[in-house]
Amino acid sequence: MSLIPEIKPNQSIELLKALHILTRDGKLNQDTRRKLKQVYHLYHFIEPLLEEVMAENEHAVLVDHGAGKSYLGFILYDLFMKQRAGGQVIGIETRAELVEKSRELAQQLGFERMQFLHLSVEDSIQSKVLPEKVDIVTALHACNTATDDAIRFGLEKEAQFMVLVPCCQAEVAEVLRRHKNESFGKTPLSEIWRHPIHTREFGSQITNVLRCLQLEAHGYQVTVTELVGWEHSMKNELIIARYKNSPRKNAQLRLEQILHELNLEDLRSRFVY
Ligand SMILES: C[S@@+](CC[C@H](N)C(=O)[O-])C[C@H]1O[C@@H](n2cnc3c(N)ncnc32)[C@H](O)[C@@H]1O
Repeated sequence: MSLIPEIKPNQSIELLKALHILTRDGKLNQDTRRKLKQVYHLYHFIEPLLEEVMAENEHAVLVDHGAGKSYLGFILYDLFMKQRAGGQVIGIETRAELVEKSRELAQQLGFERMQFLHLSVEDSIQSKVLPEKVDIVTALHACNTATDDAIRFGLEKEAQFMVLVPCCQAEVAEVLRRHKNESFGKTPLSEIWRHPIHTREFGSQITNVLRCLQLEAHGYQVTVTELVGWEHSMKNELIIARYKNSPRKNAQLRLEQILHELNLEDLRSRFVY
């Protein structure tokens, strides 16, 4: 058993060293300690969802979008999937060198039910390499609109759960900016995004509001909370969506109304389908 409290029983020391969470001589790396804390925090939310899904289907599939170095995927596999006979983690990432590194590491550790695909989130929706049904979708700081593509992926794959920590999203702010003059004449609410910094921040916030309404319109129950310990306040929102097969009654209407009120109709196809 490790004397470092952050290291859990049965956790692979080899993995933690490869992810530079532990130094070569087995000490906790102070630079990546924060990353470990963040991933553990997220793990704490995802573990009960995995338990629930795997109680029904021991071959559950989790897809992690914008996986990067796959800290989350590896920690999930090491702490949860490794001890079980089934369950699969698939990482989607556009940077080829990260995909290659993750593949090598999974092979080295014998994590056979981990797969890494060199695909964009958007392309992964149609890719034949991925299963038709996916149980859990995660996207942790997947850049800009990749979170929106991850939601579409989750809807197409009828995911039971989606766990999203959005990154900054510039697309909505750009549309708010483009229609600023029109909005001035239309609504006093345009004061909320008049100043450029407010345009950016409000753009980010309203994007997440639209994402939640979109999920609710598709029958998901949505919980929005804060991921503590995150350094960027605009990027610490955690959205957990659980499929309930009962769309919130007015979600679709509210979504359409907000797009209209805020002159965001150029983005209709992103949020309404
Ligand atoms: C900020 S990093 C986050 C990495 C990881 N999820 C984490 O939190 O440690 C975002 C990652 O998403 C990848 N990415 C960005 N846009 C993407 C897209 N459209 N499809 C797939 N991957 C994408 C980037 O290459 C990068 O590795």
